[in-house]
Amino acid sequence: MAPKFPDEVNVFLVPHSRMKDLVGNYMDQLSTADFRSSGALEHLLPLLENTFSEFKSHEHIENQYILEQLKQRLKLVNVTSTSVCNCHGDSQLVEILNLLRDGYTCTSKPISERISFGSQLQKVVSDFTQQFIPHMQEEEEIFQPLLMKYFAHEELLLLKQQVIQQHEIW
Ligand code: FEO
Repeated sequence: MAPKFPDEVNVFLVPHSRMKDLVGNYMDQLSTADFRSSGALEHLLPLLENTFSEFKSHEHIENQYILEQLKQRLKLVNVTSTSVCNCHGDSQLVEILNLLRDGYTCTSKPISERISFGSQLQKVVSDFTQQFIPHMQEEEEIFQPLLMKYFAHEELLLLKQQVIQQHEIW
């Protein structure tokens, strides 16, 4: 369980709550989808495309507003942390977004192809999700304590505000 930090300076609290809600929403629908029906893909593809675009935006905001500032601060105080350097380096989000866009061509294809694509989609998204949840936990357990240690309370208040604002306008 992630250590508890005051909500007002916990920069991951609000965005990760949103990301976990999104995960819960698509996992329910994806696991019960019947891909014999063309409507299943027509419903799921835009839902997943919006969701994974939001994940991509979340990653970008974290890179720009949290990780870059944290890296600069650690450099300033001569602290090395390899986990901060490559946090999103192996992200699969672009590949999944490409797969989702390819999926629209399957909606009018025979049932066997829709089922095959649906199985592929379930596996790829499930594999991603199995990594995404611990990834968020790692950010909460490793990066938030570093932020608490090397940033002033007022800086974190401002950082949290910026992070939330960016997520609201993604
Ligand atoms: Fe908060 Fe990098 O996901």
